[in-house]
Formats: sequence, C-alpha cells, structure tokens
Amino acid sequence: MTDLSVQRTDMRMGSLLALGLLYIAFRLGSAAARLATNPYWAGCLAAPNNPAWRLPQMISDDMASRINAQINRELFSAYFYLGLSAQAESSNLKGTAAWFMAKHGEEMTHALKMYRYLLDQDAIVALDPVEAPPAKTAGITDMFERTLSHERAVTQAINDLVDHAAQEKDHATHIFLQWFVTEQIEEEATVNDILGRLRLFGDQGQGLLMIDNELAGAAKRVAAAAPATEV
Ligand SMILES: [Fe+2]
Ligand SMILES: [Fe+2]
Repeated sequence: MTDLSVQRTDMRMGSLLALGLLYIAFRLGSAAARLATNPYWAGCLAAPNNPAWRLPQMISDDMASRINAQINRELFSAYFYLGLSAQAESSNLKGTAAWFMAKHGEEMTHALKMYRYLLDQDAIVALDPVEAPPAKTAGITDMFERTLSHERAVTQAINDLVDHAAQEKDHATHIFLQWFVTEQIEEEATVNDILGRLRLFGDQGQGLLMIDNELAGAAKRVAAAAPATEV
C-alpha cells in the first residue's frame, strides 16, 4: 500500500469516528432535553430530596401502616419466643429451648417477609419499639398456654388485615396475606398438639423428659422448613 492510500484510509477512519461522536452527542443532547422538559424528572433533578417527587406507592398509607403494625407484632413474637427459649434453657429443658429458638427464627422471617413486601410496594417501613416479653413463666405448660393465646391473637390480627385488604380492594395485599393465614392455622394446630401431649403425659418427670426430647426433634424440622427470606 502506498503512502498516499494509507493517508486516505486514515482520513476516512477519522471522518467516520467524528461522525460517530457527533451522533452520540446528538442523542445525549436530545435525551437531556427530554429529561429537562419532563415535569417529574425535572422536579427530581431540581430537588432530589423533596418527598413530592416520590413515585406513587402501590398500596394505601392506611394499609402500609397496618402492615407496619403487623411487622411489630411479628418482631414481638420473635422476642417473646427468644425469652421463652432462654427460660426453658435455664430450666434445663434443652429440647424446649431449641423449639422456641426455632420459632424465634420463624417469626423473624415473617417480619422480614412483610418488610420486603412494603419496600416492593414502594411504601415506607416504619419500625416501632418492640414490647418486652414476659420475664417469667410458671413452667412448660404455662409457656405453651401463653404461646397458644399469643398465636390466637396474631391469627385475629392477620384476619383483620385480610378483611381490610378486601375492603380496600387491594388484591395484591390480599393475595400476599394468604400465606400468613395458612401459616397461622398450622402454628395454632402445632401448639394445641403440644399442649394436648403435656396434659396427657404430664409436665413432670418422665412425661416432661419425653416431651422435651420430642420438641428437640421438632425444632430441627421447624428450622429446616423455615422459609429463606431474601431481604
Ligand atoms: Fe408469625
Ligand atoms: Fe407465630
């Protein structure tokens, strides 16, 4: 190739490059012009921290605040079971302690499921103080009686949420809550079963040892079945 033809090829490449850069600059310019004339994006750029520029959330403020209250209840449940686990371990009931610890983990996943749901709906997560659980119980039967009445109260709260979602015609939240409805049926049934066995075999001596061993096995199953919640 002669020097002249090399020069011509270089010039052609240079022109193509210049044209390409011109085209990119043109596209960027028109995109910036579109952004500047769009009232939403222009507002965001001018005052990025102004809450008025938040995209509208997909669920109502009332629904979001009710779910936030339920997050608090789930966190209380986790705290409640953590307290019972500590009390059971102090009484040398290792299986019972493991069962309550597994329930603690399960309740944390419930709270995190709701936390994720609110964020996915572009709603605000508002975390309130969590009430202290009872400091002392009167033994294993008392622990499970308190657990059953607590779970019944949670079931009522979930049912109220479902009623509210239906009333608002909030289909997404209504569907989301169905998982919790099913979960509550299972939780109440499990605790009822444990209480039945405690009444049958007694909460002292051999009967207590047997139930504590059963709870150790059940704890492993609860921990294994706990749904993994990505936050
Ligand atoms: Fe729960
Ligand atoms: Fe629960």
